[in-house]
Amino acid sequence: MLRFTTAGESHGQALVSILEGMVAGVPLLAADIDAELARRQQGYGRGRRMKIESDHAELLSGVRGGQTLGSPIAMLIQNRDWKNWQEIMDPAPREGDPERKRQVTRPRPGHADLSGMLKYDRDDARDILERASARETTARVAAGAICRRFLRELDVTVGSHIIHLGGIDAKRPERMPNDLNAAADASEVRTLDKKAESEIIARIDAAKAEGNTLGGIAEVICSGVPVGIGSHVSWDRKLDGRLAAALMSIPAVKGVEIGLGVECARRKGSEVHDEIEADNNNLKTGGVRRRSNRAGGLEGGITTGEQLVLRVAMKPISTLMRPLATIEMKTREPAQAVAERSDVTAVPAMGVIAEAMTAFIVAQAFLEKFGGDSLRETRRNYDGYIASLSERTGR
Ligand SMILES: Cc1cc2nc3c(=O)[nH]c(=O)nc-3n(C[C@H](O)[C@H](O)[C@H](O)COP(=O)(O)O)c2cc1C
Repeated sequence: MLRFTTAGESHGQALVSILEGMVAGVPLLAADIDAELARRQQGYGRGRRMKIESDHAELLSGVRGGQTLGSPIAMLIQNRDWKNWQEIMDPAPREGDPERKRQVTRPRPGHADLSGMLKYDRDDARDILERASARETTARVAAGAICRRFLRELDVTVGSHIIHLGGIDAKRPERMPNDLNAAADASEVRTLDKKAESEIIARIDAAKAEGNTLGGIAEVICSGVPVGIGSHVSWDRKLDGRLAAALMSIPAVKGVEIGLGVECARRKGSEVHDEIEADNNNLKTGGVRRRSNRAGGLEGGITTGEQLVLRVAMKPISTLMRPLATIEMKTREPAQAVAERSDVTAVPAMGVIAEAMTAFIVAQAFLEKFGGDSLRETRRNYDGYIASLSERTGR
């Protein structure tokens, strides 16, 4: 089974990402991973940290001569700010136990600070926030980059663009660009709507000036997936549920929709379901097509062969430069939350993280269906499946 785990604190020495279960023979360079890490660091409205850190993944294991080996792939991503935090984050006990600098005893609303302090019995919320921080998603993007590289070998691509930020909707173009990410990444807010782009940038500037923060929605599109990935047979094998859980686990994500999503509930059945017709040319869909793709490429937890279309909604960043009310935990007196350096919005970056999580879940489901220990074996199984689908078309 393909799985990954991450370790590391936001201001610790480094992040670690371990991906296990990837087949052998997938072409992979550290540059493939770094390119995705760089995309995660983009976006208008990010704080100073994104400028200090240009992330680099060091491949420690599982890759040799530019190809995966089938063994666990361990990656190390240094935190470049470590030298300034070494004393504060030192794993060793302090001599005579003097108080550490930069303690956080005024928990910030909207963060794991307070519940984490109570649950893990910590007096310093730094013990919680260092791991709850979205810096961890760097390690997810590294694992996702490998999954994406594997999927590319099977002609599957994952891209995203921003369709809403801070109260402004960005329109989808009539024809989506062939290379979605190249088009979206050309915009500082990763939108395909030029007019909305300048309005969004102005809205971010205004939010920054008033010490406020903004949320938004990314649309993730996964193309090239054949019919039949995922399963209807058990709740935990349904691909819609697995994608939703993976996307919902991204910090600050509060909603996930597939296809029409919540809008389905407002419409009549005839305005929701996708009618079917024969299309002998499309082998990946089993020789059929849908007249529309309101289901977002999933029915009964199984892919239909149409594009997977997912929308991921992020709340505004929790740390406000004009801080919200909280309490001082030592005295229980009213106080203002600490305003640790923070982004105004991170919706463009969230879209890249959502792509990584989607790539992981889709790669995992591919490997469940097609198996194999090497890319050649997986591809052979995959080609055999597509060939069996084509038999239905009488070819
Ligand atoms: C890419 C990204 C960057 C983020 N940057 C910040 C930030 O700079 N400051 C902040 O307070 N929260 C930031 N967040 C959100 C918090 O990590 C998140 O709201 C918090 O951990 C609480 O988790 P929850 O909102 O999922 O409940 C960011 C989230 C993402 C996805």
